[in-house]
Amino acid sequence: MIEDIIQISKEAGELIRNAFGKTHSIEFKTNELNLVTETDKASEKLITDFIKKKYPKHGILAEEGSEVNKSSEYLWVVDPLDGTTNFAHGLPIFSVSIGVQKNGETISGVVYDVMRDIIYSAEKNSGSYENEKRINVNKNENLGHGMLVTGFPYDIRENPDKAFERFIVFLKHARGLRRLGSAAIDFCYVANGVFDGFWEVSLHPWDLCAGKLIVEEADGLVTDFNGNPIDIFAKRILATNKVIHQKMIDVMNSI
Ligand code: IPD
Ligand code: CA
Ligand code: CA
Repeated sequence: MIEDIIQISKEAGELIRNAFGKTHSIEFKTNELNLVTETDKASEKLITDFIKKKYPKHGILAEEGSEVNKSSEYLWVVDPLDGTTNFAHGLPIFSVSIGVQKNGETISGVVYDVMRDIIYSAEKNSGSYENEKRINVNKNENLGHGMLVTGFPYDIRENPDKAFERFIVFLKHARGLRRLGSAAIDFCYVANGVFDGFWEVSLHPWDLCAGKLIVEEADGLVTDFNGNPIDIFAKRILATNKVIHQKMIDVMNSI
């Protein structure tokens, strides 16, 4: 199945790449920060048509509204374009993210970094890969030497959930702090050791299903902000190289 997920992610990525830099019909979803383009919808249609044809009994949960067979043993959790704001503004950082669950447990995850043409993939108990290369989180235990990443929710103006305060406090504790604009890519950069930690509030299942498995299979840790295990419906997520996890929780608790 992983080969199928990789193949359809690449096909969706090609569709997105061909549309990149062209004029888009932009619609607002919940507010003017939350965009959707015709490319998000076309990518979702390509992916869900493939699943429905090849795996007709499987369930689908996808960001732009495709929901089928929700009581099936298998559930495909799909973000057809993660990083829509970057895409719409011409910044080449965005991805396709597909996770597959069996009876509520994620068994496969693929994130396709579209413009760098890199596949991140993981299967349960089989490690994580960047294209063909096995990847692991880094071993840095020193937050002061660490590079972190975060993201901001679309409803940050109405429901900030301390996102500003956390950003400021980590600026004071870490060497570097970035906001890339694709949560799925943020997870992969924790998995391959570029970032030591990633946190965000108000994520959705399609933002984290694949990325969470990719971090875990790279020997990282993904929990809520108290260190508790999470499922893909969690809102607050902390993904790290494991050895810096408690230090990040302590910093969060200091505000
Ligand atoms: C968004 C991106 C962004 C994150 C937002 C997500 P979208 O996904 O992953 O990095 O900060 O919380 O909603 O809307 O571009 O698929
Ligand atoms: Ca997303
Ligand atoms: Ca999306």
